[in-house]
Amino acid sequence: MKDFIYYAPTEVVFGRESEDKTADEVKKYGGHKVLVHYGGQSARRSGLLDKVCHQLNESGIEVVELGGVVPNPRLSKVREGIALARREGVDFILAVGGGSVIDSAKAIAYGAVYDGDVWDFYLHRAEAVACLPVGVVLTIPAAGSEMSEASVVTNEDGDIKLGYSSDLSRPRFAIMNPERTFTLPAWQTAAGVTDIMMHIMERYFTHDDDMTLTTEIAEGILRTMKDSVFAVLKNPSDYRHRAQIMWGGSVAHNGLTGCGVLDDWATHQLEHELSGMFDVTHGAGLAAVWPSWARYVYRENVSRFVRFAVKVMGVENDFSDPEGTALRGIEAMERFYRAIGMPVNIHELIGREVTDEEIHEMVRKCSRGYKTTQGQFKVLDTNDMEAIYKMAR
Ligand code: NZQ
Ligand code: ZN
Repeated sequence: MKDFIYYAPTEVVFGRESEDKTADEVKKYGGHKVLVHYGGQSARRSGLLDKVCHQLNESGIEVVELGGVVPNPRLSKVREGIALARREGVDFILAVGGGSVIDSAKAIAYGAVYDGDVWDFYLHRAEAVACLPVGVVLTIPAAGSEMSEASVVTNEDGDIKLGYSSDLSRPRFAIMNPERTFTLPAWQTAAGVTDIMMHIMERYFTHDDDMTLTTEIAEGILRTMKDSVFAVLKNPSDYRHRAQIMWGGSVAHNGLTGCGVLDDWATHQLEHELSGMFDVTHGAGLAAVWPSWARYVYRENVSRFVRFAVKVMGVENDFSDPEGTALRGIEAMERFYRAIGMPVNIHELIGREVTDEEIHEMVRKCSRGYKTTQGQFKVLDTNDMEAIYKMAR
């Protein structure tokens, strides 16, 4: 078991009508003039945005709005936000939306108080020493950014998608009303649950398998997500199951399921190249990569994959054939992805076969110019990355 620090300072305000507490939360964390950041249409269409802005105005908090964040948020929008935040002198960034809006908000929060170019942080050329406070009104459970220290941004100049992590940007509060997720399309619901489950699986597939408590928590969340996603795909207004998923998204990525283990993240790194190059939905990209990653690495710790097969996927344990049990667990995961409408390879993800040239380009980016490996469960070099992309094509 590894030593660990668990740090999850975000105040969670969860439940029906919880967005009514937004102005109180902003005030509590020192906001007087707020940049309200949002995406395309959903928050406007649902009335959430107007409700939140009206409430802030009524409470004497000044509001500056900036919408137009797209999935796989762009650096150009971040730069627009930084210029606006400086010009207007805002002292708080409020994200109303999902992972893309929150990540864009975090990037603006870093950039607004930094003299250089915010992309420096994502290139790891500089470390942030300050950040405006960020708050969240969450509308899609998926990325877990509402409690995480991470922000992932795509630079359109070269389609490079990179993450930057710092505790400075962990949201001060996250408001989560499961009713606000009733409007999610089935695709986004399923991709969101895939991402949530992958945030747990990236930590679950580890060689530190003596941390029983973390393992049991992880398996419990994974089983709950599996059950609840079918319930909400059948009935999108099922509050009880929407609530499981919404809270699941936060605990999957706030560090709880990583306590005491060395985590992996190779599937995420391989996927970020897919969403960077093809602008696909992050969760769907994960489903397209994971089965190939799993088949490529499972021999590194067969018993871990056996446990996953039995305890999470409900596969019967054939004690005489551990490898067979492990592989049936991966197949069961593929069947689950298909059942919720997710792709299980890149062809299904982008609608055509990915070319050798595209694979080479993704390997180059994923290895940061052939300089870094990815993953911990099996440390992947560039040959491994290429092999997995080819298995997944
Ligand atoms: O733009 P609008 O119109 O709001 O539509 C959004 C968007 O098209 C829609 N949506 C959101 N809430 C809705 C809704 N539609 C109807 N009703 C609602 N209540 O959903 C679409 C997807 O939104 P997005 O914010 O992109 O989703 P998600 O939360 O999955 O975020 C994905 C981004 O997060 C990054 C991903 O790489 C990707 O860029 N990640 C961030 C992480 C982090 N910061 O910790 C970790 C993750 O692993 C991930 O990499
Ligand atoms: Zn993710």
